[in-house]
Amino acid sequence: MKLHALVSGVLGCLHINEALANEQAVLHTPQDYVKNVAIVGAGAGGASAAYHLSRLAAAAGIAVNITVFERNSYVGGRSTTVNAYDDPSIPVELGGSVFVKVNHILNDAVKEFNLSTEESLPGIKVPGAALAIWNGQGFVVTFEDSWWDTAKLLWRYGLAPVKTMRLMRSVVGKFLKMYEEPAFPFESLTQVAQDLELLAVTAATGEQYLAENGIGGAFGADVVQASTRVNYAQNLKYIHGLETMVCMAAENAHSVRGGNWQIFDRMIAASNSTTLLETAVTEVRRLHQSKRLSLKVDSTDREDVALLNSKSYDDVVLAAPLQFSDISLRSLDVGMVDEIPYVQLHVTLFASPFLLSPAYFNLAPDKPTPRVILTTLPKGEKPGKGREGVGSPGFFSVSLLRPATNPNTGGQEYLYKIFSPSPPNATFLAHLLGVESLDNGAAAEISDHDITWIYRKVWNSYPYEYPRVTFERIRLADGLWYTGGMDSFISTMETNALMGMNVARLIVDGWLRKAE
Ligand SMILES: Cc1cc2nc3c(=O)[nH]c(=O)nc-3n(C[C@H](O)[C@H](O)[C@H](O)COP(=O)(O)OP(=O)(O)OC[C@H]3O[C@@H](n4cnc5c(N)ncnc54)[C@H](O)[C@@H]3O)c2cc1C
Ligand SMILES: *[C@@H]1O[C@H](CO)[C@@H](O)[C@H](O)[C@H]1NC(C)=O
Ligand SMILES: *[C@@H]1O[C@H](CO)[C@@H](O)[C@H](O)[C@H]1NC(C)=O
Ligand SMILES: *[C@@H]1O[C@H](CO)[C@@H](O)[C@H](O)[C@H]1NC(C)=O
Ligand SMILES: *[C@@H]1O[C@H](CO)[C@@H](O)[C@H](O)[C@H]1NC(C)=O
Repeated sequence: MKLHALVSGVLGCLHINEALANEQAVLHTPQDYVKNVAIVGAGAGGASAAYHLSRLAAAAGIAVNITVFERNSYVGGRSTTVNAYDDPSIPVELGGSVFVKVNHILNDAVKEFNLSTEESLPGIKVPGAALAIWNGQGFVVTFEDSWWDTAKLLWRYGLAPVKTMRLMRSVVGKFLKMYEEPAFPFESLTQVAQDLELLAVTAATGEQYLAENGIGGAFGADVVQASTRVNYAQNLKYIHGLETMVCMAAENAHSVRGGNWQIFDRMIAASNSTTLLETAVTEVRRLHQSKRLSLKVDSTDREDVALLNSKSYDDVVLAAPLQFSDISLRSLDVGMVDEIPYVQLHVTLFASPFLLSPAYFNLAPDKPTPRVILTTLPKGEKPGKGREGVGSPGFFSVSLLRPATNPNTGGQEYLYKIFSPSPPNATFLAHLLGVESLDNGAAAEISDHDITWIYRKVWNSYPYEYPRVTFERIRLADGLWYTGGMDSFISTMETNALMGMNVARLIVDGWLRKAE
């Protein structure tokens, strides 16, 4: 060990000191040994890993020092807010926006950290139905005051909604076993899915899964598909059954007031981790002939890069989709991590003094437009694959989020969010708001009186959730853990946090086994 430490002296004397210190520690009880863990990514997965690791280690009497590396300038990853009108008092969710009743990790954190939540479809005083589903030609169904207007659904679709909810509850029941022994902690996502009978659900498309369970007719094509489109930008013909059921588990949808990212920020703070923002990890490698891992980091303005590169870790958690992380693992024997297609989702947030135009939606001029507009395909239109899936409606959803006072003018306006596969252009936005002027040609521009603030973002938001029966490994190599496989099983803030908690438990269990 001493020799190895000297050999790896090329990595810097700091490392040698640490290795020697570690060797001395081995002579004492394992409790004296400080475990060093690096977590790459400060999103839901990484934050939950940090939080649970610190708690589980403390409970096991193991000292742990966690360093979280995050290449963005903020904590939260795909869950983040931007400020409407650039005013910090008006944050709007740009990514993961709602979670539900059965999301135990998030709801427990909200309680522990005293965060407050708000309903995702608050009953705002704006004209128009709460929600409707548009197929590019007309509204197939409209809900006056809430998403689940049961009476209306039953009247319109017969027993299909009831059967779907029953099916969803049974699938959610199986999924919730992933939180408990004996399923938890799981070393393999494929195995736990098999054990809990969820592989049959991921193996089928949403369309097949509904049909297998005797749910046919328009309910799937209208309502379930509107839900898979707004949540995952995918149609029932291609998205798998499990994600389809997740989309129907919308009971008590809510968000953290001021931004869901606060959950992840508080989790990291509670873990006593050192968080290094704007610090990208570019490589993970194994120290020469050692079990320990080290990182290469890339940061333009950190003076301690050499120091960070010389540090070694007992465990490293990769808490981001590997294919977008630009991390080299080439010196480690990790085998293949499949690259999978992700949805490129365009999220457009904007403010306008105008309500959505009834004319755009083929409504009479005096008829207010619904506030949240989901989409599905018109009858007979073949669902396209990938980004073609949007079909003739041209967008996945348009939502009036809430009224807002423009801080620059004091005027009463509305905040909107659009999900689409390509950037909405000025012509489209002008038609949507009914402000197109007669002389606007092809090079139309929208006036900044009509749209007073706009923010555009393209996300690699989640995978195309094609049916599958195997999922990415959780342990990529000795001491190297990966949470990203969860994205192709269920991609939500909660499930990725569950994977972070799972990895934390596997790490601590591993330490305890070695100490025996
Ligand atoms: C528009 C949109 C809407 C969504 N809606 C919902 C919703 O309503 N409800 C819901 O539950 N989920 C929703 N999701 C999904 C949810 O946001 C994600 O599943 C979840 O936030 C992913 O968490 P994560 O930690 O696994 O990954 P991420 O949040 O992507 O975190 C990974 C982090 O790793 C960092 N990173 C990557 N590579 C490196 C590197 N080399 N070095 C350092 N740092 C690195 C990244 O910067 C990032 O911060 C939505 C997502 C999007 C984009
Ligand atoms: C974090 O540090 C504080 C102050 O040193 C300590 O009281 C707390 O127990 C630590 N939390 C964990 C989870 O280790
Ligand atoms: C924990 O790690 C941080 C960041 O690498 C380092 O600055 C700190 O000295 C370490 N603390 C202990 C107690 O090892
Ligand atoms: C949350 O509030 C409770 C009661 O008001 C308080 O005891 C607790 O310390 C608070 N926790 C945090 C993290 O602020
Ligand atoms: C603007 O977008 C609409 C709808 O997506 C499209 O039909 C139209 O061709 C686009 N116009 C221009 C000028 O790009």
